[in-house]
Amino acid sequence: MSDDKIVLTGIKPTGTPHLGNYVGAIKPVLEMAQNNKSVIFIADMHALNTIEDAKIVSKYSYEIAATFLALGLNPEKTIFFRQSDVPEVTQLAALLSNVTPKGLMNRAHSYKAKIEKNKEQGEDIDAGVNMGLYTYPILMAADILLYGSDIVPVGKDQKQHVEFARDIAGSFNHIYGKDILKLPEPYIREETGIIPGLDGRKMSKSYDNYIPIFAPENQLKKLVMRIVTDSKTPDEPKNPDESSIFNLYKHFASATEIEDLRQRFVHGGMGYGTAKQILFDAINEKLKNARARYENLINNPGEIDAILVSGAKKARALAKPVLNRVSNAMLGKDIA
Ligand code: TRP
Repeated sequence: MSDDKIVLTGIKPTGTPHLGNYVGAIKPVLEMAQNNKSVIFIADMHALNTIEDAKIVSKYSYEIAATFLALGLNPEKTIFFRQSDVPEVTQLAALLSNVTPKGLMNRAHSYKAKIEKNKEQGEDIDAGVNMGLYTYPILMAADILLYGSDIVPVGKDQKQHVEFARDIAGSFNHIYGKDILKLPEPYIREETGIIPGLDGRKMSKSYDNYIPIFAPENQLKKLVMRIVTDSKTPDEPKNPDESSIFNLYKHFASATEIEDLRQRFVHGGMGYGTAKQILFDAINEKLKNARARYENLINNPGEIDAILVSGAKKARALAKPVLNRVSNAMLGKDIA
C-alpha cells in the first residue's frame, strides 16, 4: 500500500478487548499503521445503539485507547481520537442523510438480521430497532468520508458498510459535483481462522468465553487453565488441530515452537495441564511488557484524554475542509 494513502479504522467500544480481537483486528491494524498514513478512532457514538450506560461506554473507550497505545500505536504518527470529540462527523452524517436512499438502509445486513429475528419470533418487524441502528451506515459513511479515506480495512462483516459509504459518496458527487467526496475502497483483512475461546467456540464477548488481552498475570493463568479439553490421559496421542490450546498457541509462538508443540501433541506423553502451562507462558511473554504499559495508562485516564484530545484536533483539521466542501455544495456556505 502506498505511503500517501489514508487508511482509516474505527473500533466500536462494546467490550473489553480480548485475545480474539487482538489476533483478528488489533494486531493487523497496528501493523498497517506502521507503514501508512493512518487514522484510527474509537467509534463511541456507534456504541450507543446498544449500550445505554455512559459509564460502560466510557470504560470500554478508555480500555480500547489504552490497549492500542500499550501495543505500540504511536500517536505522533497515527491520528488517534474518539469519534465523539469530532462534532463534524455528526454534521456530515446529517447532511449525507439527504442523499441516502431509505432503501439502502433497509438492505443493511445488521438491520435485516434484526428484523428477520423479529419476524421469526412473531414480533413487530421493527421491535427493538432504534434509529441509531437503522442509520448506523450513514454515520459510518460520515466517519469514512470526512477524512478523505482511501482504504478502510475491515472484517468481512463490515464490507457492506464500506460499500454503502462508496454508494453514498457516489450519489453525493452525482448530484453536487464530482470529486467533492473521495470514494473509499474496502480492504478485507485476511482471515486469521477462528480464535477459540475457553469453551472451544469462537472467542466472543457474547459467549462469555474470552480472555482479556491484559488480564493480570494470575487471572490470565486461571483462564488458560480453564480451557476445555477432552479427557485424554497424558500418555495418549492428541490431535493438535482440534485443540483450543494448540490453536491459540499458534498465534503466540514462533514457527519452530509451534512445530515442537504439534509433535508433543501427536506423539503423546504430554498432559493438557503441561500444554496449558506452555500456552500461558507464550501469551504472557508476548504481552507482559505491553500489560505494564496498559496498567499504567488505564490508571492515568488523564494521560489517555490528553492523547485523544490532541488526536481529535488533528482529525478536525482534516475534517473541516471536507465538511465545508459538502456544506458549500448543499447550503451555499461554510458550516459553523
Ligand atoms: N462498524 C464498525 C464495527 O462495528 C466500527 C466502525 C465505525 C468503523 N465507523 C467505522 C469501521 C469506520 C471502519 C470505518 O466494527
